[in-house]
Amino acid sequence: MRVLLLISILFSLSGCYMFTLDKSKRVYLKYCAECHGNRGQGNSIKYPNNPYVDLLDDQWKHTRPTRRDLAKFIRYGYEGLHRYDLSDEEIKLIIDYIKKQRKNVPR
Ligand code: HEC
Repeated sequence: MRVLLLISILFSLSGCYMFTLDKSKRVYLKYCAECHGNRGQGNSIKYPNNPYVDLLDDQWKHTRPTRRDLAKFIRYGYEGLHRYDLSDEEIKLIIDYIKKQRKNVPR
């Protein structure tokens, strides 16, 4: 019985956590994290050691980390990758998240 109570408390806590996660992080995690890592740091299980999957460094190949270029790239993708039906709002949130993570990286 006590175990059940503990489990239900844990579940409701994790529910709250998801709820308070900032919106930009939620959208990023949903669409991008699988390949680009939870923070955009790359080196994901799918793409280990691919410098272009790292969105926090300064090694860029297909686009540049400005808001305008990122928006274009995320909207149109390339070679079949990155074709999501994202709204302008979702794209803006994803870019907010990437920008924020880039700021957190010590240079
Ligand atoms: C299915 C895996 C996958 C998902 C999901 C994915 N990407 Fe990518 N993305 C890649 C790969 C692989 C590359 C690098 C290709 C290469 O090596 O040239 C890339 C490259 C990029 C680049 C260009 C980097 C550069 O060097 O120019 C950006 C920006 C980017 N992704 C953003 C995103 C965003 C934002 C999302 C979420 C909306 C996303 N990606 C989702 C696989 C993915």
